Amino acid sequence: MQRCNAPSRGEGRARPGAAVPRCRVMIRTKDKTMKQDPIAQIAQIRQSHPNNLMARHFDMAYFRALEPALQQRLLKIIASGIANPDSSMGAYAMDAQDYADFAPFFDALIHDFHGIPDDTPIAQPHDWNTTQAACDLGGIDPALKDVSMRVRVARNAASFPLPGAMNRDQRVAFESLAADAFAKLAENPAFGGEYLSITPGSPHEISADEYDRRVAAHQMFKDMSNDRFLNVAGISGDWPYGRGMYVSEDQDFLVWVGEEDHLRIMAMQKGGNLNALFDRLHAGLTVLEGLLPEFAMSGKYGAIASCPTNLGAGMRASLHMKLPKVTQGGTDLSAITDAAKGLGLAVRGAGGEHSDAGADGLVDISPSARLGVSEMQIMRRLYDGAAKLWAMEKAA
Ligand code: ARG
Repeated sequence: MQRCNAPSRGEGRARPGAAVPRCRVMIRTKDKTMKQDPIAQIAQIRQSHPNNLMARHFDMAYFRALEPALQQRLLKIIASGIANPDSSMGAYAMDAQDYADFAPFFDALIHDFHGIPDDTPIAQPHDWNTTQAACDLGGIDPALKDVSMRVRVARNAASFPLPGAMNRDQRVAFESLAADAFAKLAENPAFGGEYLSITPGSPHEISADEYDRRVAAHQMFKDMSNDRFLNVAGISGDWPYGRGMYVSEDQDFLVWVGEEDHLRIMAMQKGGNLNALFDRLHAGLTVLEGLLPEFAMSGKYGAIASCPTNLGAGMRASLHMKLPKVTQGGTDLSAITDAAKGLGLAVRGAGGEHSDAGADGLVDISPSARLGVSEMQIMRRLYDGAAKLWAMEKAA
């Protein structure tokens, strides 16, 4: 596995005294195209949207001191957060190297989002040894024996730009490498399955109906071309070229190709046994590591991902639980958001990012920190947090 070293001090920093051109980007507003100074916009967003981490931490002096070519690169990285002031992060890397080249910028966002104290160095441990703790929710309450569990990791190939900066040929070339790997994975009896592509003309192409069915079944990712965050970042570019999904024979191991990261590798199961879920993911990930080009990994940042929220373990582990009482019949998530936050968990509706809870109080809970915590720490946080929220529900 490739290691990209942590940036050395001063790397990617400005050359003092370099001539700085006035920077202008074209921002399309309702019907007219206006030139706006992105720096002035960031200052405004910092006031109007204090939760936009890009705006919160953007250091004007650092930016002004960068060489013009670096300024242009950084403007592309933050374009989505400027065009979408309501961003919670507001930045996407375009290349694995960006994290090192713009470490003074990214590190401030990373410390804040991942809750790493400013005086603690950013570093990523890895630990997949699930035998250390039995995390079976069914042992707490039989009602938790059939919760939906899902865990995924983001991975990106070191030899390609990140999705925001890929061209169509690169997207299709990466997909074809991935399809070859899946053909070998499918020969492995523990996996089997098939690769389904939505690239027009792909030998693995599926029909629009089948795509819709897979989206409805929560297996395949949604049409990215409607996502205003991804559009500005270029991540949804060339849709649907280079996109597809591998699914195992038993449908519990999936890999997305060409979404926000080159690969989103995931295990989905019904039941309460987090150990089994994590073991399944790790087994599949290990096989794929042997079949695919090297992943971009860093001792400092862990798995490199487009969005700084996904660095580190690159992992999102979640459970769907019904908490009708503490959410007032699904109408009020705020009642548990604070408690969950204290447990290191984020709560959202079960319908995905930015959704509300259903009437049955079905919520999605997941540990928020992904960087600085190992895979096993994430598993235990999810288990402990779910146990505590369940106790609150029972007591309500
Ligand atoms: N760019 C969006 C924002 O800043 C998404 C952030 C996290 N979600 C994600 N899918 N990466 O709000």
